[in-house]
Amino acid sequence: MDFSKFDQRRYPTVSVREGYGEWARTYEDTVLDLMDLRLLERLHAVDWRRMARAVDLACGTGRIGVWLEKAGILSLHGVDFTEAMIEGARRKGVYDRLTLADIAVTGLDGGTFDLATMVLADEHLADLRPVYREAARLLAPDGRFVLVGYHPFFLMMVGMPTHFDRAPGEPVAIESHVHLTSDHVAAGLGAGLRLVEMVEGLVDDDWIAAKPKWAAQRDRPVSFAMVWVKEHSAR
Ligand SMILES: C[S@@+](CC[C@H](N)C(=O)[O-])C[C@H]1O[C@@H](n2cnc3c(N)ncnc32)[C@H](O)[C@@H]1O
Repeated sequence: MDFSKFDQRRYPTVSVREGYGEWARTYEDTVLDLMDLRLLERLHAVDWRRMARAVDLACGTGRIGVWLEKAGILSLHGVDFTEAMIEGARRKGVYDRLTLADIAVTGLDGGTFDLATMVLADEHLADLRPVYREAARLLAPDGRFVLVGYHPFFLMMVGMPTHFDRAPGEPVAIESHVHLTSDHVAAGLGAGLRLVEMVEGLVDDDWIAAKPKWAAQRDRPVSFAMVWVKEHSAR
């Protein structure tokens, strides 16, 4: 679903590549670990230390790679299509390989990863199905696909798109789409994956301490994480 019908901010909107190309410089000053890393820490269905080979789809500047390395992942491959973001990932020094590509068509060998992650990128995809199919293709049987996303409830009810400040007081939105939870379920099942865990992050005291204006959003879901497993029979 196009986000524009829920948009309550009406910021000028740019394409995903243009937006992240510009935001890359200040991205890590803005994005809060509460959004995603805190959810990764809550997951039980992934034994990170047993995930030897991982691919981080939409790796951006490498925040997730740093977390995965600390969690015990031995070999890490990052994929992103925004050069300025992937340069940030390169500087982190935690990825063995980095590939500049669309996450739905990575060109990487299939069946070779124990873990695929995709964090804070699904709202930029018009259609979820290709990336679920690509994640399933990349995974070895019994591999895990961990997806963390900006919550559709927040996008729809609060009407705030992913955005950054081009200059102080000059917000710019990045092209966004709304995917219902049922869209994720259909895309994952259609790709031969099985959903084994889902958690949601709510706006709580930590969020409000970081963003006092969000007091009005207390207890609303702002992000979610899903763990999918590749069935042995899936190709
Ligand atoms: C919000 S950032 C998330 C980066 C990182 N996963 C994190 O959590 O910090 C979104 C990233 O998704 C990438 N992205 C969005 N759509 C993409 C696509 N179709 N193919 C490759 N990268 C994509 C952008 O370039 C950007 O680096």
